[in-house]
Amino acid sequence: MLYYPDIKVAPSILSADYSNLERDLKDLEDKGADLFHIDIMDGHFVPNLTIGPGVIKDIRKITDLVLDVHLMIEDPEFFIPKFIDAGADIIDFHVEAFLKERKLNLKKLTEVYNGVKGVRKGLTINPPTDVAYFKKILANIDLDFILIMSVNPGFGGQAFIVRVLDKVRTLREEYGFKGDIQIDGGINAETSSPALEAGCNILVTGNYILNALDRGEAMSKLRNNISNYKGGAG
Ligand code: DX5
Ligand code: ZN
Repeated sequence: MLYYPDIKVAPSILSADYSNLERDLKDLEDKGADLFHIDIMDGHFVPNLTIGPGVIKDIRKITDLVLDVHLMIEDPEFFIPKFIDAGADIIDFHVEAFLKERKLNLKKLTEVYNGVKGVRKGLTINPPTDVAYFKKILANIDLDFILIMSVNPGFGGQAFIVRVLDKVRTLREEYGFKGDIQIDGGINAETSSPALEAGCNILVTGNYILNALDRGEAMSKLRNNISNYKGGAG
C-alpha cells in the first residue's frame, strides 16, 4: 500500500571519499540526490568515529541541498545545538540514548526533543530495539519523522535486515504514524521495494550509490524502482 507519494533518495556520505568530498557531493547532486544523509559517530554509541560540527560547517559552504545529520552518539543533548549552528537542516538521534536497562526515560527524551528548534527532527531506532517504545513516545511527542535502522549502526556496506520492516508496518498500521519514515542501511534497487511497500518514504543509501561502478546507473535503477512501485500502487 502506498502511504506517501513524496519519496526521496538520501545518499549517505559515509561511503564518500573524504579527501574528495566536494567532488563526491557535487557528483551526487548531479545524479539527483534529494538530500544528504551525514553519519555522526562518537566511538561510544557505535564502534566507529566519523566527523564533527566543523566538517558540517564546511559541507554547508559547498552545497545547498538539505543536510540530514544522523547522530549516533551518547549525548545528543550536548551536541544537537552545535550541529544546528554548523548548518544541519534535519537532526536524527536515537531512542537508545534514552534507554537504561530497557527503561525509557520519556521525560528526558521529551525535554530534549521539544527543546530542539528550527530544524526537522527524527527519532531513530536500532534493529534490536522494540518498536513498542514508540507507542508511548507517539502519545507524548509529535514526531516529525522516524528513522528505522535496517543494519546495526556503525558501518556502511552491511546487509539489509528485512525483519525491521515489521516495525514500519506497526508504526503505520497499528500506531497510525503519518509522518515520514526513513530507512537507513543496506538499501539498494532491490531492498528498496519491500521498504517502500512497508511504508517507508525516505531511502538512505550509502555503499550502493557511492561505490557503484556507475553511480548514474545505480541512481536510475533506484529511481526506476521507485516509479514502478508508484505505478504498481496505482
Ligand atoms: C550506518 C549508517 C548508515 C550507512 C548506510 O551506521 O547510519 O547511514 O551509511 O550505508 P549503506 O547504505 O552502505 O548501508
Ligand atoms: Zn545513517
